[in-house]
Amino acid sequence: MEKTEYFIAKTFANLEPLLAEELTALGARNCQIMSRAVAFEGDMAMMYRANYFCRTALRILWRQSKFNFLNNRQFYDQIFNFPAEQFLREDGTMVVHATMSDTIFKTPLFAALLAKDAICDRFRDLYGIRPSVDKEDPDVQFTLHIYRNEAQLFVDSSGESLHKRGYKVSNHPAPINEVVAAAMIQLSGWHGECDFIDPMCGGGTLLVEAAMRALNIPAGFYRRDYGFMHWKNFDGDLWKSVRREAKIREDVPVNFYGSDINGRFLDIAETNVIKARLQDFVTLERKDIADTKPARTPALVMMNPPYGERLQVRDLQELYASIGTTLKHRYAGCRAFVISSDKDALNAIGLRPSLKKTLFNGAIECRFQGYELFDGDRREYAKNKKPKE
Ligand SMILES: C[S@@+](CC[C@H](N)C(=O)[O-])C[C@H]1O[C@@H](n2cnc3c(N)ncnc32)[C@H](O)[C@@H]1O
Repeated sequence: MEKTEYFIAKTFANLEPLLAEELTALGARNCQIMSRAVAFEGDMAMMYRANYFCRTALRILWRQSKFNFLNNRQFYDQIFNFPAEQFLREDGTMVVHATMSDTIFKTPLFAALLAKDAICDRFRDLYGIRPSVDKEDPDVQFTLHIYRNEAQLFVDSSGESLHKRGYKVSNHPAPINEVVAAAMIQLSGWHGECDFIDPMCGGGTLLVEAAMRALNIPAGFYRRDYGFMHWKNFDGDLWKSVRREAKIREDVPVNFYGSDINGRFLDIAETNVIKARLQDFVTLERKDIADTKPARTPALVMMNPPYGERLQVRDLQELYASIGTTLKHRYAGCRAFVISSDKDALNAIGLRPSLKKTLFNGAIECRFQGYELFDGDRREYAKNKKPKE
């Protein structure tokens, strides 16, 4: 049996329970929710699986050692004794990052430099060479978490953040982060049972994430590179067998509709949809949201309107009021979800939300709101929704 290893999967604030659910479903053991992270146990296949399948993880760190230290010398010795040559080739490149609080070091940079020196000195003793540091594109990324006199040394198995799925060839100026888009879809409770509509689709992130989910396409399906592929101990056969676990559907009985008022942004969406080979599923059209309506109901409507931060809008209140009017009069029978950082603008939608959640689109704090859209009077709707006695 493979050894049980300890990992930390990182994510955005408030997505930890979703990530823990995903990890558990993939077979992770002892999932523990932390702040912006989930700790779990498993083997090397589980580490590959988490990188490939988790839609709400940003990176997967594999813990190599945990030790106490009282001074610089003890810290250096502990890192020196760590067999970094399991991961780093003699001619490989590396970087060390550190985060810390309430400890003896003045800065995390100093702790990272000391650790880097320890690894380099070990290589000099073993092979007569010192590995080079590459901050941009290292073969191995070491991460240190230091709290008081305890340090944990991790290797970063993901490399570039996992929100970089590999289907974005062209970038919208104000995109929703792919991990947040996947989380919004997960939170909406939609599993591909009805059409999915994004009437402000920009570069098409929500559409691609929704289609990937409905077709069961793994989060990392389009991505070619992961940190662990550059390690000396990379197991290509195991990686291949993990990828073969994917059970991709060839077809789904629902459609994906995206529209945007800006033709240039629609071109971006089209390029991304084609890169993801989803053009048979996704229909794109240039339209003002006020002119859209569902092809059939029920449908799931999800959008990420401009916040007025990265995309300038003449009158944000007016735009959001028009979103509310359109949803109320044209999308009866659907469920709608809107994410925005502007609370006043969200209030201008003028509909009572059935769900409110704080999410972070990268560094931007946002409110994610859900609406049940019904014909006519809310009380009448609630009465009809109640089970008949
Ligand atoms: C924040 S961006 C969406 C980004 C998208 N979620 C992505 O990840 O690329 C908001 C989009 O709303 C579009 N938009 C603004 N006003 C609109 C309107 N009245 N009708 C339709 N789309 C509109 C903008 O052109 C922009 O592409």
